[in-house]
Amino acid sequence: MPIIFKKDTNQFYLHTDHSSYIIELLDGRIPLHVYWGKPLDAIAPAMDWDSSFATMFLAWDTGIEHTHFNTTGGLPLEYPVYGSGDMRDPAFHVQFADGSRVMRLEYAGHTIFDGKPALKGLPATYATKDEAQTLELHLKDALSGLSVYLQYTVIPAYDAITRAVRVVNGGEESIRLLQVASASVDFYDSEFDMIHLPGVWARERQIERHRLIHGVQRADSKRGASSHYQNPFFALVSPDTTETNGDAYGFNLVYSGNFAAGAEKDAYEMVRATIGINGFDFSWLLESGESFQSPEAVMVYSAEGLGEMSRRFHRLYRDHLLRGKYQHAERPVLLNNWEGTYWDFTEQKLLEIAAGGKKMGVDMLVLDDGWFGKDRMGETGDIGDWVVDKRKLPNGLKGLGDKINAMGLKFGLWFEPEVFSQNTDIYAQHPDWCIHVKDRPRTKWRHTLNLDYSRPEVCEYIIKAVSDVLSSAPIAYVKWDYNRNISEPGSPALPPERQQELHHRYMLGLYYVMETLTSRFPDVLFEGCSGGGGRFDPGMLYYMPQIWTSDDTDPEERLYIQHGTSLAYPAVTMSAHLSASPNHQTGRATPFKMRGDVAMAGQFGYELDPAKMTDEEIATAQEQIAFYKKYRHIVQQGDMYRLVSPYDEPFAAWQFISPDANTAMLYTFVITGKPYQPPKRVKLQALDADAIYVEELSGVEYTGAQLMQVGVPRCRLNDHLSEIAVFRKK
Ligand code: DGJ
Repeated sequence: MPIIFKKDTNQFYLHTDHSSYIIELLDGRIPLHVYWGKPLDAIAPAMDWDSSFATMFLAWDTGIEHTHFNTTGGLPLEYPVYGSGDMRDPAFHVQFADGSRVMRLEYAGHTIFDGKPALKGLPATYATKDEAQTLELHLKDALSGLSVYLQYTVIPAYDAITRAVRVVNGGEESIRLLQVASASVDFYDSEFDMIHLPGVWARERQIERHRLIHGVQRADSKRGASSHYQNPFFALVSPDTTETNGDAYGFNLVYSGNFAAGAEKDAYEMVRATIGINGFDFSWLLESGESFQSPEAVMVYSAEGLGEMSRRFHRLYRDHLLRGKYQHAERPVLLNNWEGTYWDFTEQKLLEIAAGGKKMGVDMLVLDDGWFGKDRMGETGDIGDWVVDKRKLPNGLKGLGDKINAMGLKFGLWFEPEVFSQNTDIYAQHPDWCIHVKDRPRTKWRHTLNLDYSRPEVCEYIIKAVSDVLSSAPIAYVKWDYNRNISEPGSPALPPERQQELHHRYMLGLYYVMETLTSRFPDVLFEGCSGGGGRFDPGMLYYMPQIWTSDDTDPEERLYIQHGTSLAYPAVTMSAHLSASPNHQTGRATPFKMRGDVAMAGQFGYELDPAKMTDEEIATAQEQIAFYKKYRHIVQQGDMYRLVSPYDEPFAAWQFISPDANTAMLYTFVITGKPYQPPKRVKLQALDADAIYVEELSGVEYTGAQLMQVGVPRCRLNDHLSEIAVFRKK
């Protein structure tokens, strides 16, 4: 059984195939964190808390006069609260009607059951009764009647533990929630490096690793979106952990809004990791009898380094987070007109682009920004009335879509449904439908205001507007863009005491809209986007199985972005396009082949005007697409190994291995401008040591052991900066 309660020691054991997580009820009352790491069947006798607590007598801290743990200060707590002696960052912080913030959460019962309950209104990983088991640990504050349910689900075969928290106000008076973290873990060890993924527009998810110092270190967002700037992922790893060795603890929040994720190292050399909704500018009024559900945190432990940590996230997300028709189906290769035309196109031009794409072998033409409104010729044009611009598309979306279908291509369409500009009918009718504070200026961002998705009527309006368009034409794909963050966070629809609920209510509204649209149009492939990768998180992936990774399509920049993104997210979720050279974001010129090779490590597509391609490039594109279609199931469903990091060397190497482990793809990339590199070799991983592998292009045979232990030269094709080699088991 993955979850066991041992009554004699008051311990809960949560076992995955390669890890254990142990909680103990101190005095049968206070849940303490005992252990998380390699599999461990029993701790017997039970923990000797008295001796750990004795340390506290020596120090200046609360709890000195307490003998029977009346205080929680200094102990490894499973869900720390503020106000009763624990002075570290709390997971939970509330204010009662009398103004007090002190409580005592003590064990009030537990249930263990098969399966994994859905989280009301929120995205979350899912699993059947055969695949998972759940523990709900009920903690109660006797004085106020407040109950907290710690929800743990173990998905053993995926080595994942998910956590969430449900709060129920069982008292008579209202309670204001100030902080409800989804997970908190107290480690006895303090020698950790923290890894997280900061970035910016066009340079998202760059890997940053640093030693934990005393104090709080966290990544967070206050932008109303998970953002380009930080990602709701972090890892704590031993200082000597590498891709292949060492402890790695990964945390990821299934949420797309404001979050806080990080660790505090305290004076006693203990480390507390916390992840959840950002407590900054958040509060939630919980009336008597009401409940509040936190988002889900996914926790993955690996004793085999960062690579295995990532693969555990990848497998879990591929099989237990992504949903719908395209979850495991081979995804189409698409051609997007954005960098080919920007806003300046006609139906005729789009049909020419589609014809070029057809010749190359793509599956779909995607029409990006600019197909709607009265004057959408640039960023200042109107956005928000989702009605086709007949001057550009005289035959409407149906006329265009039918013609594209007649060419044998599918048709996809761009939307940005969370914003509107002031020069629209919808703004004229509902000027208060934007997020704003009365009588204060409304900050425009890319000339738009943010629709207030905390309002049900706004959500219904958008569902209808998008549904009408999707029903009006043969649309097989939607790119859901979002090009701003939230400023002036206020909603006239919320009373003053609930204004700080806006950010979370916005996310609940957005998730409702996405759930409704994706289930109403199950055949449509939805791709998330937020000015590139400004909202690349598991919350979005629950609704949209792929995300536009970055607006930066420069292949060298993409090496860093895709390498960083892969720490938590699988290749099948990363949209990647070959675009024109010199690159529109960086001005750098790169070979057509390298642009394709980098993009083929994700969800492959093109983003240019085929009319500007040479015959040779068209021929290469034909080869690329044929190659990708032959092997895309390996990139999309196989395991990924990061062999060489571009953050370490002017070179990168990635390996994908097929689910049946018979075929390995080796991607190698040389970063330009750094000649005369040492003649190192790339060593593959996870092959069958005794088997013979044939390299498809050359026909050369290698043993698995040779490929893994001796490796192959980094640059085998002297005239190229990149190469994809396929090794097939004989
Ligand atoms: C930002 C996206 O990331 C781009 O791909 C493109 O769709 C533009 N928005 C359109 O305005």
